[in-house]
Amino acid sequence: MRYAEQSQSGLPDIEIPVLEPQRQLYFIQKAKELTKQYWNGNQPPAYCLETFGCQMNEKQSEVIAGILEEIGFVRTRREEEGDFIAYNTCTVRENANLKVYGRLGKLRNLYGRNQKMRIALFGCMMQEEEVIRKIREDYPFVHLVFGTHNMYQFAELYCRMMESGQQVVDIQEGSDRIVEELPSARNFGFKSGVNIMFGCNNFCSYCIVPYVRGREKSRTPGAVVNEVEKLAEDGVTEVMLLGQNVNSYGKTLPEPVSFAKLLEMVEKVEKIRRIRFMTSHPKDLSDELIEYIARSRKVCHHLHLPMQSGSSRILADMNRHYDKEYYLDLVARIRKAIPDISLTTDIMVGYPGETEEDFQDTMDVVEKADFDTAFTFIYSKRAGTPAAKREDQIPPEVVKDRFDRLLALVQKKGRENSSRFEGTVQEVLVESESKEKGIFTGRTQYNLLVHFEGRKEMLGQYIRVSLDQCHGFYYLGTVVEENP
Ligand code: 5AD
Ligand code: SF4
Repeated sequence: MRYAEQSQSGLPDIEIPVLEPQRQLYFIQKAKELTKQYWNGNQPPAYCLETFGCQMNEKQSEVIAGILEEIGFVRTRREEEGDFIAYNTCTVRENANLKVYGRLGKLRNLYGRNQKMRIALFGCMMQEEEVIRKIREDYPFVHLVFGTHNMYQFAELYCRMMESGQQVVDIQEGSDRIVEELPSARNFGFKSGVNIMFGCNNFCSYCIVPYVRGREKSRTPGAVVNEVEKLAEDGVTEVMLLGQNVNSYGKTLPEPVSFAKLLEMVEKVEKIRRIRFMTSHPKDLSDELIEYIARSRKVCHHLHLPMQSGSSRILADMNRHYDKEYYLDLVARIRKAIPDISLTTDIMVGYPGETEEDFQDTMDVVEKADFDTAFTFIYSKRAGTPAAKREDQIPPEVVKDRFDRLLALVQKKGRENSSRFEGTVQEVLVESESKEKGIFTGRTQYNLLVHFEGRKEMLGQYIRVSLDQCHGFYYLGTVVEENP
């Protein structure tokens, strides 16, 4: 192993490793000491970590939580009880940023009452220059800021924060590094996300993700399978493979591997019963993958396939590389190969230059594609993206009117489509108990929820439930068999 730098801390003078993850493991030990010295009460200090945005952020937060727990913190969900507060931020739409600024306003008061508190912001939103300028000027009580490319250095940055007494800001422009084998805490015992790639190369004209998350990088199949095996040993039976565009997984690896091949490898992990993945880009969804899902015993029959718009003209401008006909044909091919598939999608309204005719094309695809659920968004102008520079932005009242009409159609179609399972018996993974005691929630492979009377021992188990009544986005059901 190579070594460099002499330690400056009060720790015995051992050399600081250069290689990862050894370097971060060293800083975790150092952070433990710094934490003990700073919060030297009888109770261990508490951290409160909040995640905004997507499931990839959720997964990366588990690593930050794992490191904090190694350092000696215990978790609290109540911000006012936290000694260390951290937000993993999102910037995909402006609303996400506004939420963080709103929360910072409240934190300012909390910090005013407890100046021993330490506060960190990290993730996507921090990769924006304007945000950093604002934090430097208006939020001096934020002690540590880092971005998406150096999350793996959290322990090291935490030490810098604890030692410097000043605001530490460390944002990197890009990285092709993926650091494996860092500690991680998990949100659920029986299901888990697994990041298989980071970044995006697509540059859809409205989207900020490629700018804040950088170029596409895939983890090796070995690293992915290794993580899935460890999760399975720990009791996980359902994994969700995560990436901005999983269909282009493995293309940039020294030895390229297709996503379908990766699924095949994950499927071999014996104790895993269900495999999910997201997100699929329609342009890269291969016949190989469709055939694989059709014959797999473990891949759930649910595909999230963002269409964004139904207008070929708008799709071309968005740089999506498919048109309305291609999308509808793809849906038909998927349904032919996997007749019971559940399809969900993302749709945006109010993209610059969108006419009523373009919008009607979107409504037409929603009529024809039979989605179970569609996530609908109002176009949000993101700094630095090509679409933000356009002058033909759509007036808010026109967008709102289209959004309302789209939402009404999406909900009507969603109710019709997802009720097709009414009266059938399905296997569900029991995920949680609701506030109403004795009522449990399970998820079918189609990603539909069902509530039923059950017992605590059912949590994390697969049971068979009759889907008696469809209530739009969920079912009410009864347990038919506990150990199928
Ligand atoms: N405005 C609105 N929605 C957006 N999305 C991505 N960028 C924007 C934006 N600028 C939506 C897309 C994507 C989902 C994750 O977020 O529909 O699929
Ligand atoms: Fe954004 Fe397009 Fe990449 Fe998805 S595929 S993250 S919408 S640029």
